[in-house]
Parts: sequence; structure tokens; C-alpha cells
Amino acid sequence: MAQSDVLVEIQGLEKEFRVNGTVVQVLRGLDFSITRAERVAVVGESGSGKTTLMHILGTLDKPSRGKCLFAGTDMFALKAAQLDAFRNRHMGFVFQFHQLLGEFSALENIMLPALIGGSRRAQAKAQAQVLLEQVGLAHRGAHKPGQLSGGEQQRVAIARALVLRPQILIADEPTGNLDSVTSAGIYALLEDLHAEYGLTMVVVTHNMDLAARMDRVLQLQDGVLTPA
Ligand SMILES: Nc1ncnc2c1ncn2[C@@H]1O[C@H](COP(=O)(O)OP(=O)(O)O)[C@@H](O)[C@H]1O
Ligand SMILES: [Mg+2]
Repeated sequence: MAQSDVLVEIQGLEKEFRVNGTVVQVLRGLDFSITRAERVAVVGESGSGKTTLMHILGTLDKPSRGKCLFAGTDMFALKAAQLDAFRNRHMGFVFQFHQLLGEFSALENIMLPALIGGSRRAQAKAQAQVLLEQVGLAHRGAHKPGQLSGGEQQRVAIARALVLRPQILIADEPTGNLDSVTSAGIYALLEDLHAEYGLTMVVVTHNMDLAARMDRVLQLQDGVLTPA
């Protein structure tokens, strides 16, 4: 495999938390890579460290030991400001609870990463409108999150995550609080986005049917990742 095919490379990743003097070892030495355009599902019991891993992959938290290379760059060797800029530009996040800003409209929520990234308002709006249409919500742009269904809110969150065309989508139980029909719709949307522009994605899910439709399934158990 050519080196350039590898988007993410994780080496010897360990993570522990210290709680009241006690060390809790959550990730015990993970080595894996993700190639461009690959769709990886991460499964594992509650408390197995899936969210911890997603936070580290997304550079929202630091490993205790080990390396995280993204397109060959050692993420945690970057200065904080560089890392923030890199994350904003190249990574998109979707969480179980969508974390949209309630006082802003759907369109404005999607515009935010573009505005933070320095786009002018008109450009950010145009970019956001493309995404809103792509997730099938062109008619809901003016609605606030509270005026949308759970599935619609998650579509907005996906649009927001993708407005800057990141290299990777990191999704932590994106359908965790949705019914099965709505969940299937969200996965169909992710498949469309993958087909359309080869989006690389890492998705934590409890739904084994949906996980099986990804390119690879990794199981987190006892602090290590194994092919499921
Ligand atoms: N900030 C933290 N401080 C202390 N312990 C934590 C912290 N975050 C997670 N943990 C612990 O790490 C383990 C894995 O948590 P998590 O990554 O959220 O698992 P999952 O997403 O698989 O349910 C749990 O035992 C949890 O209590
Ligand atoms: Mg979790």
C-alpha cells in the first residue's frame, strides 16, 4: 500500500485517567491505520473506551503515550493554535447528542465552522446551503434545532461537520438516540456522502447490522482493538 493511502496512523496509543489518585487504564496500546476513503466502524461495550478513542483521534484529548499521525503529521507535536486550525479544517465531528446551538437556525449552525475558519459570511452561507441540500433539508434552513426532529437535527449536525469538506468524519454513536428507521436514513446519508466524495469515516455504533455495512469493523475490548 502506498504511504499516501494512509490517512490516519495510530502507534502504541495508551490512555489512562487519574481519578482521586487511582489510575484507570482505558486504552492499552492501540496500533492501527485508516486508509483514505475507508469506512471504519468501532464497536465495544459501554465503558470500553470508544469515546475516549474518538476524542484522541479527533485531537480533542491527548494520549498518555503513543502517536497519532494524520496524513503523516504527528498531531500532538503541533502547537495548540496549529492543532486547533488543523482540527477545524480537516476533521468533522458528529456526536450522539447533536450539540447544535439552539439559538441559531439550521443554516447558521452549518455556517459556523466556515465562519470560524475565516470564510466571509456570504461564502459560508453558500457553502452551508449546498450541505443543507445534500442532507435533504433545504426547506428547513430557517428552523432552529428545537423545531426539528431528532433525525433532522442529526442531519444538520452531519452537514455542519462536513461544511469545510474535512478529510475525515468522526462520529460517536451518531444514531444512538434515534429510532431504527431514522438511524437507517442517517446511515444511508453517510453512504451517499462516501460515494459522492470518498469521505473517510470512523463511526462508533452499537448497531451491528449497520457496522457490517462499513469496510471494516474494529472491536474495542480490554483496552485493545481487534478486528470484529
Ligand atoms: N475524563 C475522564 N476521567 C476519568 N475517567 C474517564 C474519563 N473519561 C472516560 N473515563 C473512563 O474511561 C472509560 C471509558 O469511557 P468511554 O471512553 O466514555 O467509553 P465508551 O464510549 O466506550 O462507553 C470509562 O471507565 C470511563 O469512566
Ligand atoms: Mg461513548
